[in-house]
Amino acid sequence: MRQLQFTFVILVALLAGCAAHQQAANAPATLKSAFANDFLVGTAVNESEYCGTDPRAAGIVKEQFNSITPENCLKWESVHPHPDSFDFTNADRFVAFGEQNHMFIVGHNLIWHSQTPDWVFRDDQGNPISRAALVERMRKHIFTVVGRYRGVIGGWDVVNEALNEDGTLRDSPWRRIIGDDYLVLAFQFAHEADPGARLYYNDYSLENKPKRDGAVALIKNLQSAGIPIYAVGLQGHYKMDWPTNNQLDETIKTFADLGIKVSVTELDIDVLPKATASQGADVSMNFALQSGLNPYTNGLPDSVQQALAQRYQDLFKIFVANRQSMERVTIWGVTDAHSWLNDWPIRGRTSYPLLFGRDYLPKPAFQAVLQTAN
Ligand code: GLA
Repeated sequence: MRQLQFTFVILVALLAGCAAHQQAANAPATLKSAFANDFLVGTAVNESEYCGTDPRAAGIVKEQFNSITPENCLKWESVHPHPDSFDFTNADRFVAFGEQNHMFIVGHNLIWHSQTPDWVFRDDQGNPISRAALVERMRKHIFTVVGRYRGVIGGWDVVNEALNEDGTLRDSPWRRIIGDDYLVLAFQFAHEADPGARLYYNDYSLENKPKRDGAVALIKNLQSAGIPIYAVGLQGHYKMDWPTNNQLDETIKTFADLGIKVSVTELDIDVLPKATASQGADVSMNFALQSGLNPYTNGLPDSVQQALAQRYQDLFKIFVANRQSMERVTIWGVTDAHSWLNDWPIRGRTSYPLLFGRDYLPKPAFQAVLQTAN
């Protein structure tokens, strides 16, 4: 009898164990759990997510992602709108959201030519500012913003988009007024303001050889100046046919060979017809809406949906294969409804670049991405 009881207890325990195992296996996989051993999976968030006015989108962020980047609230024009005043209202909310949800928080960005007020480059009389005054202005901005979140924001896009398509340095006001060493200075200030923060150089189209070569030179220059640059950010504003898988793989390996990590910082895939032959992501481009350029106003045809899923899967296969070199893959937005690609480079289109649809549901691309996890 005792023997029988013992066998029964063991059987029940085994069955309970199996049920628990089955439950775990059935638990919906999330992006952050699927790639937990490979790289961080992040998303860009806007006010409606970190302030909770769009609870469904906020819910997706909490469930799926372990890193966040602010779409706008840390850009110069938002956080430092006037010479003597900083506005951290939204930045503080963004950071609190990341802390509450135990996420790796990315600061985006410190030095850029866009979304930077014109006063930054002018003196009190409206004349072009001197090199010394602009260096001081840059130092104050970086020390104030990075210093406020020291030890909390894990990494900073220190300089955004400093390169032209041919790999030369962009003729931005930063470079015109300070000189080429504005890059080294910006990184130095960021490092002094928070020695523990990861520092990134972030740009688009680095998959193209001439621009990539320019980035390699830029990074080597930072390294020889003693800057501990942590990773290069490939923005990842991709098309269905660009970059090719080989281009992307080669790009990741080229930067990894410099001894730094690679982060995909703003991933989205544009399925809409091209308005221009240009592949870049220059935010200043804007074209008129013509018929034929906005073909999917009533939903994405199944064939395009499947092609997008395949494209996402191919990209993630490359990220997983290079996981030793990858710090993070951040998607530029939560649902298709909020993507900047509804308004760029043509205003008012219906775009489908992300992993969640306008109905907040995961798209086939989401499942396709999950399938690439080890
Ligand atoms: C660039 C910037 C981002 C964002 C996108 C467009 O890639 O780095 O902050 O402005 O353009 O949304």
